[in-house]
Amino acid sequence: MRAFTVLGIETSCDETAAAVVRGRAPGPGKILSNIVLSQLEEHAPFGGVVPEIAARAHVEAIDTIIEEALAEADVSPDELDAVAATAGPGLIGGVMVGLTTAKALALAWDKPLIAINHLEAHALTARLTGGVEFPYLLLLISGGHCQLLAIEGVGQFRLYGTTIDDAVGEAFDKAAKLLGLPYPGGPNIEALARKGDPKRYALPRPMLGRAGADFSFSGLKTAVRQIAQHPDFESSDRADLAASFQAAVIESLCDRVQSAMQSFRAEMNADVDPVLVVAGGVAANAAIRTALTEKAGSLSFHTVIAPPQLCTDNAAMVAWGGIERTQLGMFDGLATGPKARWPLASLSAS
Ligand code: KG4
Ligand code: ZN
Repeated sequence: MRAFTVLGIETSCDETAAAVVRGRAPGPGKILSNIVLSQLEEHAPFGGVVPEIAARAHVEAIDTIIEEALAEADVSPDELDAVAATAGPGLIGGVMVGLTTAKALALAWDKPLIAINHLEAHALTARLTGGVEFPYLLLLISGGHCQLLAIEGVGQFRLYGTTIDDAVGEAFDKAAKLLGLPYPGGPNIEALARKGDPKRYALPRPMLGRAGADFSFSGLKTAVRQIAQHPDFESSDRADLAASFQAAVIESLCDRVQSAMQSFRAEMNADVDPVLVVAGGVAANAAIRTALTEKAGSLSFHTVIAPPQLCTDNAAMVAWGGIERTQLGMFDGLATGPKARWPLASLSAS
């Protein structure tokens, strides 16, 4: 059967991105182009993403980024099978820019439109890169989300656990701010932690050993604040605090994943080789990748994690989501609206 070629557009946060991907489910797919323009410089003075600035920057960049993606892929619009864009969840102004552009292109080129859930795009990336078969266990760790799910098919998810307060990426970003590190905090904490002693500060490990697979990170953030704002805290202590924070996050993640792995295995068909997929921006963290791979291995799970540049926001994952949905004939009408909130569990219900 022939492969599909889809243009993907991503504008839900602070990356303006377009990509062309070719392939068939279950993958792997071929990334023909993957253009990501980060707005880091626009937001850096504010210590976080400013929605209005993000939306304007998307408007300014989107046309050029799409032209570049098509040119680099050497694909003309008539060779496309569909146009896919993130329709949520995310910052609504940005989502509107990408989705409206996709609608205009779909109409002008007479191609089907696909409204992609950003979380589903992260969830399916392991099929784009590794051709992973359903079902698999997914740990989704990003700036706004922290969830453990069984991925049983396109639009078919079962939730094991979620955060009861902060997302793990949010915890990284807040801890970074407390340590005086610039946004985005994750990569900066990771770099600083490499120079520190992870045992120096005894930070809490929220939810450790609890039944179920829910997460909590706000207590950890409070503990970091108390240490960082103590009068005796010196800038030479920062690397130790960054390392101790990251070690606490890793232990919490490993414990929660272990609990979900046990549930997944108990519910799964015995002849399926169990796979843990880790996705979302925080999965770019090398220490987290290593620890989760070891933990999964100890329970005979195989681990699949996309390369770091496909863990953080990009449009190749959106295009791949478009390929999966094209293959199933799951297209959307031009009346589809942007959604600021759009939980994965609601896709399973529709
Ligand atoms: O998936 P993503 O690019 O955007 C969202 O959909 O949220 O994730 C962004 C989050 C940010 O909180 C960022 O600090 C975190 O991922 N992040 C990291 C690393 N790289 C990005 N966290 C820890 N270590 C990293 N290397
Ligand atoms: Zn994301």
